[in-house]
Amino acid sequence: MSKLWVIGVACFFFIQVASAASNGLARLQSVTVDVTDKAALQRGAKWYMNYCAGCHSLEYLRYSRLGQDIGITDYKGDLNTEILTRNLIFTAVKFTEPIQIALQAEQARQWFGVMPPDLTLRARVRGADWLYTYLTSFYQDSNRPFGANNRLFPDTAMPNVFYPLQGKQIAMSTTREVMVDGELIQQSVIEDLQLIRAGSMTEHEFRSMVTDLVTFLVYVSEPGRLQRQQLGWKVLIFLIIFAVFAYLLKRSYWKKLLR
Ligand code: HEC
Repeated sequence: MSKLWVIGVACFFFIQVASAASNGLARLQSVTVDVTDKAALQRGAKWYMNYCAGCHSLEYLRYSRLGQDIGITDYKGDLNTEILTRNLIFTAVKFTEPIQIALQAEQARQWFGVMPPDLTLRARVRGADWLYTYLTSFYQDSNRPFGANNRLFPDTAMPNVFYPLQGKQIAMSTTREVMVDGELIQQSVIEDLQLIRAGSMTEHEFRSMVTDLVTFLVYVSEPGRLQRQQLGWKVLIFLIIFAVFAYLLKRSYWKKLLR
C-alpha cells in the first residue's frame, strides 16, 4: 500500500513539473472569462460575426441556439428572430441553420495554405488563456505573405485581422547563442512585443474586446455549460435537503431494530 502512495505522489509531481515546463515555454497570458455575462457574450458575438465569421465557421452551433443563449429574446423569453437576423446573420441563411462559411476548402488552401479551422470546439482544445494570448500576439513581419506573424503560433497562416483596431505591433528581438545538435548557433529570440502605432482602439479597449471574443468562444465550445451550472446548484441543494431526510429515516429504522 505504501508503495502505491509513493508512486502516486511521484506521478503527481511529475505531471506538475511537466505542465509547468510547457507553460513556461508558451508564456501564456491569463484571462478571466465569465460565460454568464450576457452583455460580454453579445459583444463577443458581434466581434465574431464581423471579424472572424468570414473565415471560421461554428458548424456545431445554430444561430437560433446562439440567439436564445446570449439573450436575444423578447420579454417572454422567446427568441427575437428579427433582431437576430438583422444584427448577427450577414448571409442568406435561415436562423435555424448552423453557422457555416462560404469559403471553399480549395480556395482557402490556395490563399492561406490551410483551411481556417472551425472554431466551435477550439476553446476546449486550446483553453481560454491560449486563445487570448494568440489573439493579442500578432506582430508585423514583412517576411510573411500577409505581413504578420504571431509570437505564440510562429508562422501562422492567419492574417492579422486586428491591425486597424490594435495598431502596429512589432517584435523586439535579441540574438542568442543556442546549442543545436552539439553546435552553437546564433538564433533570434523575441523578448517582447511593442505597440509602436495605435489603432482605432486604445490598449484597454482592444484587450477588453479580445476578452469578449474569448468569452464568446468559451461559451460556444460548450453551450450547455450555462444550464449545467444552474442545474448543478439545484442538484446540490436537493442533495443537502435529501441527506437530512435520509438521516432521519435511518435513525427511525435503527431505533426500531435496536429496541
Ligand atoms: C482571412 C481569414 C481569417 C480571418 C478573418 C480570421 N482567421 Fe483565424 N485563422 C485563419 C487561418 C488561415 C488559420 C490557420 C492558421 C494555421 O494553421 O497556420 C487561423 C487560425 C486561427 C486560430 C488557431 C486555431 C488553432 O487552434 O490552431 C484561432 C484561435 C483563430 N484563427 C481565431 C480567429 C478569430 C477569433 C478571428 C476573428 C477575430 C479570426 N481567427 C479571423 C484565417 C482567418
